[in-house]
Amino acid sequence: MRTLIANGTVVNAGGSAEADVLVDGETIALVGHDLAAAGVTADRTIDATGKYVIPGAIDAHTHFDMPFGGTMSKDTFETGTRAAAFGGTTTIIDFAIQPKGGSLRDGIDAWHAKAEGQCAIDYGFHMIVSDVRDDVLAEMDGVVAEGIPEFKLFTAYPGVFYSDDGSIFRAMQRSVDNGGLIMMHAENGIAIDVVANQNAESGHTEPYYHGVSRYPIFEGEAANRVIRLAEAANAAVYIVHLSSRDALDAVREARDRGTPAYAETCPQYLFLSLDDMGNGFEGAKFVCSPPLRPKDHQAALWQGLQSDDLQVVATDHCPFDFHGQKDLGRADFRRIPNGLPAVEDRLDLLHDGGVVGGRLSRERWVEVCSTAPARLFGLAGRKGVVAPGADADLVVYDPARRHVISAATHHMAVDYSCYEGRAVQGGSDVVLSRGTVIVEDGQYCGPKGHGRFLRRQPTGEALRRGAV
Ligand code: URP
Ligand code: ZN
Ligand code: ZN
Repeated sequence: MRTLIANGTVVNAGGSAEADVLVDGETIALVGHDLAAAGVTADRTIDATGKYVIPGAIDAHTHFDMPFGGTMSKDTFETGTRAAAFGGTTTIIDFAIQPKGGSLRDGIDAWHAKAEGQCAIDYGFHMIVSDVRDDVLAEMDGVVAEGIPEFKLFTAYPGVFYSDDGSIFRAMQRSVDNGGLIMMHAENGIAIDVVANQNAESGHTEPYYHGVSRYPIFEGEAANRVIRLAEAANAAVYIVHLSSRDALDAVREARDRGTPAYAETCPQYLFLSLDDMGNGFEGAKFVCSPPLRPKDHQAALWQGLQSDDLQVVATDHCPFDFHGQKDLGRADFRRIPNGLPAVEDRLDLLHDGGVVGGRLSRERWVEVCSTAPARLFGLAGRKGVVAPGADADLVVYDPARRHVISAATHHMAVDYSCYEGRAVQGGSDVVLSRGTVIVEDGQYCGPKGHGRFLRRQPTGEALRRGAV
């Protein structure tokens, strides 16, 4: 099957050009001007006049079908990847979880069982290490070799995922040996629990107190600490879901002294704020960790994206229904399952607030949503770029289309939207995954289980040298 996407503006991280794109089978065969006039033929032509043709977006941080806070995140791999496709995302990387007391293998097997045959788009896994032991450190090497090269550790969630500094340091040392990359959830969970317990015990049990208990300085301290540990181990480190100016300062200072520290932020920290948590129990819809911050942190994060101190925007998509799941914490914010839905909205929010809002060029928008995660997570050349030889993961994107985000129309399997009623400019018209049209005319039209598991290359060594 050959598909010609004609008359569009191809937008890559490195530049834009008026060009046609010929897809042959699963890959991009040609990118060039007026290919039909040059004699190129195809089985189907998609007219992209007035549209962008961009590499399918990559969401490097999702949690589908994940046990957390006494319940399960609501999207399965089937519903979550389909919703992602509607939003122009053609690759997700989810977090497989090592069960406490179990092995990494146990977690990987469980995640393959959840995902296999279910996904609308290609998918990979990072590994959450919840129990650093000698045998687990040894097991990491084989996990890298099987295409799961990143390991997330936590300074948050004591008693659940928390690792102490020694464990984190040992995992970092191991990553230097095996080429993997340590990802960090950087918040000082021990100190946070002190403040959260003080607030709850003095009767402040509403969702808002989730936000105010998790001080920005607790994120800044933890980010600085894990970066310093990485420096001591001579390892690269990637901070996930960075939310605050305090943590960004730690990353920027590290990068300025030459440390290979990398970081992602998420739409919720760019567009939402602590104010959203203040409306009684409605605030539970916005409970995530790190929490939403006072509004004045947002400008610093946009600036971080502009200066490349933040390289990636991922969602940390971890949805729980408002009715039946978030309300587990109606009497006590400490029991509200942490996480927000966003996998469908990221590309449009970033287009609207970034490109239309004058904060990001359209090339930088493509870079933070697609090209940079491909580069950092072992998919460079294959995903994240419109170029001959790359997978034909393509989005015909209408930069002028307007729509209003709503739970009534979104495709995520969750009963609310954090962006309910927000009008955005920009939308995905046609979405291709490896050459197959999977979304068109507002319908999902791909085959079930189209998505394949991505065995990814480790990038830790190259990131350490600053060569990615
Ligand atoms: O609130 C969040 N972020 N939930 C998902 C788990 C995590 O820490 O990424
Ligand atoms: Zn986290
Ligand atoms: Zn997460």
